[in-house]
Amino acid sequence: METMKSARKNDTEDVGSDLSEQIKAATKDSHVRAENTTLMLDYQKGKITLPQYKLLLCSLYEIYRALEEELDRNASHPAVAPIYFPQELARLQTLERDLEHFFGSEWRQRVIVPAATVRYQERIRRIGEESPDLLVAHAYTRYLGDLSGGQVLGKITQKSLGLSSKDGLSFFSFPGVSSPHRFKQLFRSRMNSIELTEGRREEMLREANTSFLLNIQVFDDLQKMLSVTTTEAEDQSEGDAVKSKNMFPSLPSMQFTVGVCVALTTVGLGFYAL
Ligand code: HEM
Repeated sequence: METMKSARKNDTEDVGSDLSEQIKAATKDSHVRAENTTLMLDYQKGKITLPQYKLLLCSLYEIYRALEEELDRNASHPAVAPIYFPQELARLQTLERDLEHFFGSEWRQRVIVPAATVRYQERIRRIGEESPDLLVAHAYTRYLGDLSGGQVLGKITQKSLGLSSKDGLSFFSFPGVSSPHRFKQLFRSRMNSIELTEGRREEMLREANTSFLLNIQVFDDLQKMLSVTTTEAEDQSEGDAVKSKNMFPSLPSMQFTVGVCVALTTVGLGFYAL
């Protein structure tokens, strides 16, 4: 769409036979759509709020839990082994740290996710069970994204939320990766070493687009959840919702309303075929 902005270079020309080039070209439009979701646009404008960030962390936690458990379980699969970099890339523990920072030691009871996150998680688990080679597409979408635009988003988060230290921002930090640029090159070359039939290669490109779509749906669902929670919080605290320690309204009746909305969205899951 011509009104959409993209921060990426024009890379449609000269797509070679390497999987890394093909996957980048095949997901170009999806990337633009992901960048132009309300959540990501808010990010780019430096308008990310604490409730947005906390909700995003909850969903990222569930997504990476599924992704990293499936990668671990399939670590010796011939397609997964070349791109298996738990030391350098694993995000699960960083997300646990960030969640504990914002929600306290009882954070596990406070993790709440929309239906789209559940669908994303289920997709990764099914891929891990039935077609582990396609985990490469999911690892590509998340990790290379985290090492690209994600690095800028980390700085924006710190500034937007006025955080003085790196506490709560572990997700964006990759101590095992000294140069994101060089590491991405390594990851791409490992992807290119994977042997794939033409059919599996096409399946991989399709799965990468599915992965982007799932991310887009998560961002859209998070915005819907927020439009319920922040409106109510604003009403209650005269526009001071962002400073609230608790992302959700404290009144039991409001918690119930939010719960019902989330439950309805989650039930909708059964009707949504990928
Ligand atoms: C504010 C939103 C975003 C911005 C500003 C952004 C920006 C960028 C930039 C500048 C690059 C480097 C492009 C290049 O080297 O040519 C990139 C790469 C990438 N981004 Fe994003 N991005 C955003 C959101 C996302 C999201 C939501 C995802 C997926 C969930 C994603 C996945 C990727 C991937 C997989 C790459 C690597 C492409 C490749 O080299 O093959 N990005 N992004």
